[in-house]
Order: sequence, then structure tokens, then C-alpha cells
Amino acid sequence: MKRIALFASGSGSNAEEITRYFSTQSDVQIVLILTNNPQAGVIERSRRGFGCGQHVPVVVFDRPAFRESDRVVELLKAQQIDLIVLAGFMWLVPATLVQSFPGRIINIHPALLPRFGGKGMFGHHVHEAVVAAGETESGITIHFVNEHYDEGQIIFQASCPVSPTDTPNEVAAKVHALEYAHYPRVIGEVLATLPG
Ligand code: GRF
Repeated sequence: MKRIALFASGSGSNAEEITRYFSTQSDVQIVLILTNNPQAGVIERSRRGFGCGQHVPVVVFDRPAFRESDRVVELLKAQQIDLIVLAGFMWLVPATLVQSFPGRIINIHPALLPRFGGKGMFGHHVHEAVVAAGETESGITIHFVNEHYDEGQIIFQASCPVSPTDTPNEVAAKVHALEYAHYPRVIGEVLATLPG
């Protein structure tokens, strides 16, 4: 049995897709949802069982607990988490957490890294920057997480066309479709490479 912890700060639509995908697999369990945002949509989604009867416990933490204590690391270790999956998680992951789970933290970024990444490049800011730059394509990047925003080793990318008339919201919709289509499967592939 492989055990996943999902980190999400917002709506949690990716968390829902991932939970639904693995709900049919007996060898993978979504054990915990962690969020820094007491208002995060992911909390309500979990309360509703992610539409598939999976009521995953949610843990809300604040910045001191995350950055200045080992509470989150200790919780993840106690829960014997194999893989940490960031799905719309907005805070930089502290070095202690990266070092405690080497090669076991992955993130999805809603653009084609290394472009349109780094501090401040999250959510609608990314899609606005892509449109403002007149890009003809955007996409998703799934990557391992290190101590720097969006700089870890790339695992998978997929692209979508951006037309000159696309608004940032239209680009976001195309990128979300790519996320739902690929992230759960790629998580499964990463899990399959992990020992134990
Ligand atoms: C996604 O576009 C993800 O790539 C980015 O934040 C967004 C989260 O959306 N990091 P949701 O909370 O999964 O709906």
C-alpha cells in the first residue's frame, strides 16, 4: 500500500481528480489533505467525499507550524507517507520538509517551466503573464520539489495552444483540462518507481 498526502491551498479541483482516480486502486491511499487555508475549497470537497465516497481527513496548519516547527514533518512521518503531492499549494516548501522526503515531493505548475515560474507566478498570474507575452502555447509541468519555487527536476510536460484572442481564463481552462488528464496518471507512475 502506497500512502499519499495532498497539499492544497485553494479550490482543490486537482485534489478531487487525484482522489477520485486512486479511489478505484486498492494499492494506493490518499491518507491526508493538508492546507494552509481554513477557507480552502478542498475542505468542502473532502467533506463531500470528493464525489466518490472518500472522506479524507484535513489538517489545517499556519505559517509558524509549517516553517518554524517540525509539526508537519512529524505528522507526515507518523502517517508513513510515501509521496507528498502538491496540488495548488501556494507556500514555499521549507528545506526541512524537502530533506525529510527526498525525491518524494512533487508539484504541478500551470505553465511550461522554466518559463512563467518562480515566486509570484501562481494561479491567474501565470495565465495573465502568458497572454501578455503573446505566447502561442502554454501547458503544465509536473516536477519534483526542491527548496526553490518551480526549480526541481521536471518529470512531465504537456502543452496546449494559446490563440491571440484567448483570455487568461480561457488559457486557465485549457491548462486545467491538461492537469486533470495527466496529473493522476503521472503520480501513479512516480509511485511505481518508489521503493517499499
Ligand atoms: C492549478 O492550476 C495548479 O496547477 C496550480 O494551482 C491551480 C490549483 O487549482 N498550482 P485547484 O485548486 O486544483 O483547482
